[in-house]
Amino acid sequence: MEDHIQAALATFDVGFGPMTPDEDIIRTGHVSIDAYISPERFEREREIFRKTWLNVAVDSELNNPGDWVVREVEAAPASILISRGTDGIIRAFHNVCSHRSLKLVWGEQGCDRQFVCRYHAWTYATDGSLRGVPDRQAFGDLDPAETALVQIACEVWKGLVFINLDPNPRQTLAEFLGGLTDLLEDAPLDKFRYTARMTGTVKANWKAGVDASSEGYHVQILHRETAGDMVCSKENPFLHFLSLDFFNANRQMSNPGNMEFQLPDSRPVSKLIFESIPQPVVKSGEGTGSFDIPGLNPANAPDWSNDLIAIFPNFQLNLALNGFWTMHYWPVTVDSMRWEARYHFTKAPSSWRERFALEGSVALNRDIATEDASCMEVLQTAMQARARPFARFGTNEFLCRHQAAVIDAIVNQKAPHLAAMAAE
Ligand code: FES
Ligand SMILES: [Fe+2]
Repeated sequence: MEDHIQAALATFDVGFGPMTPDEDIIRTGHVSIDAYISPERFEREREIFRKTWLNVAVDSELNNPGDWVVREVEAAPASILISRGTDGIIRAFHNVCSHRSLKLVWGEQGCDRQFVCRYHAWTYATDGSLRGVPDRQAFGDLDPAETALVQIACEVWKGLVFINLDPNPRQTLAEFLGGLTDLLEDAPLDKFRYTARMTGTVKANWKAGVDASSEGYHVQILHRETAGDMVCSKENPFLHFLSLDFFNANRQMSNPGNMEFQLPDSRPVSKLIFESIPQPVVKSGEGTGSFDIPGLNPANAPDWSNDLIAIFPNFQLNLALNGFWTMHYWPVTVDSMRWEARYHFTKAPSSWRERFALEGSVALNRDIATEDASCMEVLQTAMQARARPFARFGTNEFLCRHQAAVIDAIVNQKAPHLAAMAAE
């Protein structure tokens, strides 16, 4: 335990300068209820989403020149247009027209050779440059640099598209990811180009979402009807993690599975689902090995089922033998969030059987997410009573401690250089 504590207390930098996580939270696991319910605290947390690298898309959504997606970062707030230019380059822009700042693209996804504002038809090329202005002489000289769409820092790592809303990001994506880039150097994440995505709104603080998928403690209890048997074994009923490591503010946690789990013949539909596709969801027994990556399961545990790679602040990569799935928890208000789950497969289903299995697998995951969401909403209302001053996270909820300790350091500006400035 002391090793984990020391590792978790390492200095991190997510764009605010070097800081150390709050030691009290790391050691005690006590996190103030205010962190979940205080509007003032939420305002300070918004700054995180304006300065750190955020995963907003995958490049398989932008396969062809002209492909685009729009993503909302409510916490900033900002609407982001990400497009693959006709020159093949992926760029991100503020989705705002240079004329009078109307939201430029109103859809969520498409393919176009140009973007036309629906108010007065100012028109932009896929590289963001202004191409057309009706009644142009009414505007005198228009500086191309000043009238192009406002570009946002954008980098792609292994097919994962990240943006940084800071106009001058203080670090590169690689610096932000820390040693994760080395750890996952051989991970073929960009080969899993077929995705199923689902999203929803939960009336709870975004950190409650991150917490819920950062620990396995609740799985045997809350998910007993859905996932409990699959992953919880007699030897490890509370899913004590197998190993834990830290990379900047990011984390790697190896999770156990139930190697004894077999679907009984009395559940033919579930069996069909599990046997028909190489799905990324936790699966017992031998996988296909198609996702056998050095760096995962560093403890080399025989009962390993998946690694959680938690990328600060709100992005989680879950890597298993047969593929991977991701979760995002986007803050909207102090007591509401938008969650997003994405399942990655190497190829689209090629038969009705595979299609059914894939849909069944996603539906199972929706059920699991609904179990979490219902708990989070009630948790949020219960917290409002302030009956308890803090929530307590045990040693098996260590990632929740680290997340809270990192955020606490940022919002309280515990960066050494800031402290030095304050002392002057
Ligand atoms: S606001 Fe976009 S063209 Fe006028
Ligand atoms: Fe859960």
